[in-house]
Amino acid sequence: MSSEFVQLEVADSVATIRLDRPKAMNAISLQVQAELRAVAAEVSERSDVRAVVLWGGEKVFAAGNDVKEMADMSYTDMVDHVEGVQGAVTAIARIPKPVVAAVNGYALGGGCELAMAADVRFAAENAVLGQPEVLLGIIPGAGGTQRLPRLVGPSKAKDLLFTGRFVKADEALAIGLVDRVLPAADVYPEALAWAARFVNAAPYALRAIKESVDRGLEADLETGLQIERQHFAAAFATEDSTAGMRSFIESGPGKATFEGR
Ligand code: CAA
Repeated sequence: MSSEFVQLEVADSVATIRLDRPKAMNAISLQVQAELRAVAAEVSERSDVRAVVLWGGEKVFAAGNDVKEMADMSYTDMVDHVEGVQGAVTAIARIPKPVVAAVNGYALGGGCELAMAADVRFAAENAVLGQPEVLLGIIPGAGGTQRLPRLVGPSKAKDLLFTGRFVKADEALAIGLVDRVLPAADVYPEALAWAARFVNAAPYALRAIKESVDRGLEADLETGLQIERQHFAAAFATEDSTAGMRSFIESGPGKATFEGR
């Protein structure tokens, strides 16, 4: 599928998924959602992609779902589309590789929800995040009521969701909504550098860690521990586990090279 508003670039085994709809502040229309689902499937499958940076360019991450498109939609229209709205963000969250969101400028509504689907978030000093849906008389529909409280706790999440207020980078860092705050020009390069750390790592171990954390957070502790046990045992079926442990015994820690098998 050709993509108009979501660009994919792969360099040195790191993929950059870039929202590119500048005239509408990268608003996430139905087309953008379809393109996000397609690109998420592509980077998930491609073995030459080891980690992913999610970026909206230097000015804005995304100002949310496309309000102009949604304004004329009825209840039944949205019943037909809501799985795709949420599914675009879920598809990003399910990429079985490390994903970092590089947030310059606004990440609002669906934009904030998209950033929360990444494993970590680096924000520019001028970043502004929030879930302002309530000010439109609606609620977040791309995971905001679920991922925000998991990241920042229920009280802070409800404060943001009830008020719709915007959060600047320093507050976002303080409450755990973002993980690092950087000068604007450094956000994308630092995100690329973070992603590059995983290029030569053991990809099936990374995949199992991500799935254990994410599936475990969706379950009770005993179920989460069971998920971990299964992934832990399964890791012993990979050649990378043999190489990693043998390298430790022969050469000491941190020197293993992995084939990704
Ligand atoms: N959808 C559609 N168009 C949008 C948009 C959005 N979410 N956000 C901005 N735009 C458009 C504006 O309408 C404007 O278009 P025109 O030039 O054609 O008038 C253009 O982008 C520039 O925006 P502004 O003139 O408003 O720029 P600003 O600098 O004054 O303000 C802003 C920027 C604070 C981001 C403001 O545009 C804003 O508040 N945007 C909407 C944020 C929002 O409510 N997001 C939630 C959307 S609902 C959602 O996401 C649902 C969900 O959970 C799935």
